[in-house]
Amino acid sequence: MLEKQMKSKILVINGPNLNLLGRREPEIYGAATLETIIKNMQDKAAELNLELDTFQSNHEGVIVDAIQEATKNNYAFIIINPGAFSHYSIAIRDAIAAIPIPVIEVHLSNIFRREHFRSNSVIAPVSIGQIVGFKAEGYILALEAAYRILNNKE
Ligand code: DQA
Repeated sequence: MLEKQMKSKILVINGPNLNLLGRREPEIYGAATLETIIKNMQDKAAELNLELDTFQSNHEGVIVDAIQEATKNNYAFIIINPGAFSHYSIAIRDAIAAIPIPVIEVHLSNIFRREHFRSNSVIAPVSIGQIVGFKAEGYILALEAAYRILNNKE
């Protein structure tokens, strides 16, 4: 008898102001709401046989807590858009550095062609990679990247 294969679990974290997607500067971040983005990710996860947990917070400490908790919950990957925290939160960076779970950083906009202060991410050095500038599609690309790495297809 074939053993039932355990689904790999992925945690998706969205940081401050991303709850406003859809009405927040759509010319920069696209028209998709966070709800739509998560729904599309859930559909893709089902296709790839991955389990997805998602949450959004405007609070740095809540995100740090979630990253610390992630190790207890056996996540295979974290996909994070830290929003503005990307540019200055050493606390989130240190939390990522403290855990063994690989992290993919996502940005809807291309942070390298905007204001200068956005071109530095303190999260990038503790992530395995960054996906920037593809708007909502970036989250799907991140999920595919996680799937490919987990299945040694990269
Ligand atoms: C963002 C880019 C950040 O500079 C900004 O503060 C955000 C969104 C993005 O997804 O493009 O909140 O992370």
